[in-house]
Amino acid sequence: MYGKLFALGAGLLFGTSVLCLEVRASEPTTPPDPPEFPAQSEPVFVGVSDILEYRALPEYHEPEWVTEKFVKTGKLPPVKERLPKEPLVYKAANMPDGIGVYGDVMRHVIGGRPEGWNYIAGQSQGWGGIDIGMMECLTRTGPLFMVKAEELQPLPNLAKSWEWSDDGHQLTMHLIEGAKWSDGDPFDAEDVMFYWEDHVLDPNLTPLNGASPANFGGESTKLEKIDNYTIRWTFDTPFPTEYLYQMAYGNFCPGPSHILKPKHPKYSDNTYEEYKNAFPPEFMNWPVMGAWVPVEYRPDDIIVLRRNPYYWKVDEEGNQLPYLDEVHYRLSTWADRDVQAVAGSGDFSNLEQPESYVEALRRGSDESAPARLQFGPRTIGYTLQMNLSGNGWGDPDERAQAVRELNRNLDFRKAVTMAIDRQRLGESLVRGPFTAIYPGGLYAGTTYYDKESTVYYPYDIEAANALLDGLGLKDTDGNGVRNFPEGTAGGRDIEITLLANTDYNTDRNLAEGVVNMMQELGLRVILNLQQGTARDDLYQSGRFDWQVFRQTAEMVTVVQNTAMLAPTGPQVHQFHRAGSDGTLDLLPFEQELVDIVNAFVRTQDLNERAELMKRYQKVYTENVYSVGLTQYPGALIINKRFANIPAGAPIYMYNWAEDNIIRERVYVPKDKQQDYELYPQSLPGEPGGDGPIT
Ligand code: GLA
Repeated sequence: MYGKLFALGAGLLFGTSVLCLEVRASEPTTPPDPPEFPAQSEPVFVGVSDILEYRALPEYHEPEWVTEKFVKTGKLPPVKERLPKEPLVYKAANMPDGIGVYGDVMRHVIGGRPEGWNYIAGQSQGWGGIDIGMMECLTRTGPLFMVKAEELQPLPNLAKSWEWSDDGHQLTMHLIEGAKWSDGDPFDAEDVMFYWEDHVLDPNLTPLNGASPANFGGESTKLEKIDNYTIRWTFDTPFPTEYLYQMAYGNFCPGPSHILKPKHPKYSDNTYEEYKNAFPPEFMNWPVMGAWVPVEYRPDDIIVLRRNPYYWKVDEEGNQLPYLDEVHYRLSTWADRDVQAVAGSGDFSNLEQPESYVEALRRGSDESAPARLQFGPRTIGYTLQMNLSGNGWGDPDERAQAVRELNRNLDFRKAVTMAIDRQRLGESLVRGPFTAIYPGGLYAGTTYYDKESTVYYPYDIEAANALLDGLGLKDTDGNGVRNFPEGTAGGRDIEITLLANTDYNTDRNLAEGVVNMMQELGLRVILNLQQGTARDDLYQSGRFDWQVFRQTAEMVTVVQNTAMLAPTGPQVHQFHRAGSDGTLDLLPFEQELVDIVNAFVRTQDLNERAELMKRYQKVYTENVYSVGLTQYPGALIINKRFANIPAGAPIYMYNWAEDNIIRERVYVPKDKQQDYELYPQSLPGEPGGDGPIT
């Protein structure tokens, strides 16, 4: 089967050259249809209850060595006592290859580096799904790519069920009862409340993915503990089902309050900085609700994680999950992740940097290739974002403030978008039918996208230059660079800094492409290349003029991070946040976007929602809210020895593939198992201890 798919991919790549000439016109139009690029496998669509349920089973099992070495010696209670009363049970019929067996390792490679484990205070673990494997959230969205449209709603997870009050203002959630952290401490409403009150609501802290009250309806939203296993939300608007999506990965994954609370400034003498850094990467056996616990860390080398003996999910035969005993995170580069996955020295990659596609396809097309490579829908996209705060976000100096004023001018943004030759930009990454013209806004091919509502300003460098002439931006000193008008920033050359992430070749290449194309427009764009974490700090604090940005889920699904589709709160939006006085100086069309997004959240009517998103797309693209660059598909690369990889799993949709494939039920059949375990037959030790114990 894969051979045929590769033949298809290779044909597209190396066969007939694909001609797709852009029409030249200064008039706005609709964007051209993306070149055909069929996803290579389709999901089997099911309902939520086909995937999982919560129930007690007559008996439970675990790897034999756990019973022998840990339970029989009194180091661990029997598996039944470690599991909740009613564990989460994955149904066998929904497992592509059925009930699995224990053993083996998934060897990940990542380009990020861990700052520490305290993700609820904002620390990153290095991405690439390491955090996804450790944290569990109230609900879950990754696997929704296989849920049928009529039944689409987030999967239960730590919240096993919920109900709305008759008026729709209250949402009562029932937490899984009797589940434990990986060190045996009970998980309950205290963990949830600690996350909410002392992190989301504490203005001094921002959890890893930026959760703020705005994600859940703003300051008026309340969350209270009813009892140890019941929590209740109160919202201003009735039935805001949106927020169930926000309670998944990213925004509502509680941390272990039993070890965090004693270090939190509210309950200790620590400063916020000390709290955030209290659990550095060297801190081993960090308690998790996820399937694997970090037991070894060697800087710039590897993080090793072992199975969580208290994991609260099982298969239908009562086998405690995960099936995989160990997970590795090699600390390398993102490009190396592709190389290693294709070569078989790594097991997994989201092929997402088009610069590697040709080589990956060429090597992967061999029948004997160690990994399968499967392209999905076009859900990876980049945009050029301009900082739109005119009132001080990020503390701009005189030059930067003058750039902000330009950014806030529609003719200026139009000129920039018309100076981007998207065909050339896409082809500079990879030739072939992968990249598509992307004007900005919602992605083509997604549920809420409407071509007719998408305004596209085609490449037209003359018209673009004419627009800047019209703004009085002349090259007064004849050096090829336009100058600020007299009286603004001393009439000096217009210099704009462009922030980009050096962890990815694609970010860097797109940024360089933008720099070159802006030369033709007489703008001097200066690259500010920063490694991932430093880049994140700069943009989160508003210290950028422009940035090249790989977009997040809201542009694909709309129902996730909905609040981020516009500046709906002072600190939610990617490129327009409140200035020094705490207010947002929204442009009139931005206010319109905010109103549309708020109306979207308030209604459950599907037609109304579709109409609202058409307007959103129109207002967004007509006003060039951001300058779309390119949009393309990614491919999931997974070593062929793994079983239970769902068909059609996209590398990115509701979440990244590391969540989508439901790693806890992935396994390696006995006859394919390898000797990759670094700590065979061991389990995580005490939090803060040396590492695994045997
Ligand atoms: C990084 C990678 C993605 C994905 C995510 C998961 O962003 O680029 O492919 O692995 O981490 O968090």
